[in-house]
Amino acid sequence: MAKAKTVFVCSECGNESAKWLGKCPACNSWNTFYEQKIVETKSGKMSAKQLREKNTPKKLNSYQAEEEIRVSTGFDELNRVLGGGLVKGSLVLLGGEPGIGKSTLILQLCNKIQGEGAVLYVSGEESAEQIKMRADRLGIKNDNIMFLGETNIEIVDNAIIELNPKLVIIDSVQTMYSDELTAAIGSVSQVREITSQIMRICKARKITTILIGHVTKDGNIAGPRVLEHMVDTVLYLEGERYFSYRILRGIKNRFGSTNEIGMFEMQDKGMCEISNPSDVLISERDGNPAGSCIISCIEGTRPVLIELQALTTVSIYGIPKRTANGIDYNRLALLIAVLEKKTGLQLGSQDVYLNVVGGMRINEPSIDLGVLAVTASIFKNIPISKEMVIMGEVGLTGEVRRINMIEKRLKEAEKLGFKTCVIPESNKKLLKDKYKLDIIGVKNINEALKKIGIK
Ligand code: TYD
Ligand code: MG
Repeated sequence: MAKAKTVFVCSECGNESAKWLGKCPACNSWNTFYEQKIVETKSGKMSAKQLREKNTPKKLNSYQAEEEIRVSTGFDELNRVLGGGLVKGSLVLLGGEPGIGKSTLILQLCNKIQGEGAVLYVSGEESAEQIKMRADRLGIKNDNIMFLGETNIEIVDNAIIELNPKLVIIDSVQTMYSDELTAAIGSVSQVREITSQIMRICKARKITTILIGHVTKDGNIAGPRVLEHMVDTVLYLEGERYFSYRILRGIKNRFGSTNEIGMFEMQDKGMCEISNPSDVLISERDGNPAGSCIISCIEGTRPVLIELQALTTVSIYGIPKRTANGIDYNRLALLIAVLEKKTGLQLGSQDVYLNVVGGMRINEPSIDLGVLAVTASIFKNIPISKEMVIMGEVGLTGEVRRINMIEKRLKEAEKLGFKTCVIPESNKKLLKDKYKLDIIGVKNINEALKKIGIK
């Protein structure tokens, strides 16, 4: 009997090799190679002529475009991120860290989704009793939800074919396995195989599918991002685990833009939509203390106003400590250096703590000026007016640089009843619309601090 052909595959990145290797040359991880059988497919046995007869190129114009049918998920925030609802027959990947709320959100979606037909919820992680307990807590009594506790994908495939549901949930791809592979559950080849099997079955029957995937610490689903290219839409649910706010972000969308985000709050009754994030994020301010200011950032295409807080204390060690919660640590260190050099504030002997309220993470440079102002405010113990919003990027020479989408940011500040906005002078010069705001343009940080009232 001929020996079965095998190949060695890296479980981290999927790199293949004819012989076993201790270290993967592609991703440099150690001890990740395992042996896998080469399965001969039907097309592998066909001659080139047979293959050619099976499929040949035709004029693109001779095809009819199909109309996208969109189904509302029952969540406005989710619909917006998807570009107007779930497209019938599409394959969606929802990623996020364990415990962030993926299963909860999807169970609520199963309850709210419109359209005829059943929903099949396949879970390899939790038992029917556990899911039922969660459903009871969320007040879900929908008769259309079918449950299958299974990890073998071939059994799942059969269930899908028999039931022919309108929506299939696989919770999660990392817990499923296929009999055809010897690779470990959750490895790259298993996860790929599961996805391609589900894709073949569901695309042919126009069944919408949501795959739930856990993200590992370094931010990848199933090791590397091996599934993103296979699916139509990739969504990530983010947030700090011990804060209640969650952000749903579109990373890839074949049926819409990826610029939108959705905001949710994890409550005792499950995930609740937040239609006006600014309102919630600045609602807990108490009085007008020093070391707090409001900044503006753009999440997706929406402007959001957020509170920044800072604290400075005398450092008891030789090296002063900088702690950044919600912004990049190196950015904070850089901005403090600019503040010291350009305004003469002596922060060298101070520990500086900076916090973005609500567990949000901001990567935008437009918050630079706010970071500087709030640090100076607490150091000098002078409060910043609570009716002021501060925005602007700061360069290494202390200049305040232009930021994007200024009109949207100003409109949001106006809508929420703020009175003053401090913005880059270069932005102010280009403004066309009239606002019911006192708009102050600034060129550098010294001028900004003076006009904010800290100098
Ligand atoms: P879950 O949806 O299981 O997370 P994932 O599927 O992403 O791993 O969410 C688990 C967390 O959510 C758990 O710590 C408890 C919390 N939770 C609530 O706060 N409220 C609720 O109504 C539910 C169902 C869960
Ligand atoms: Mg889960």
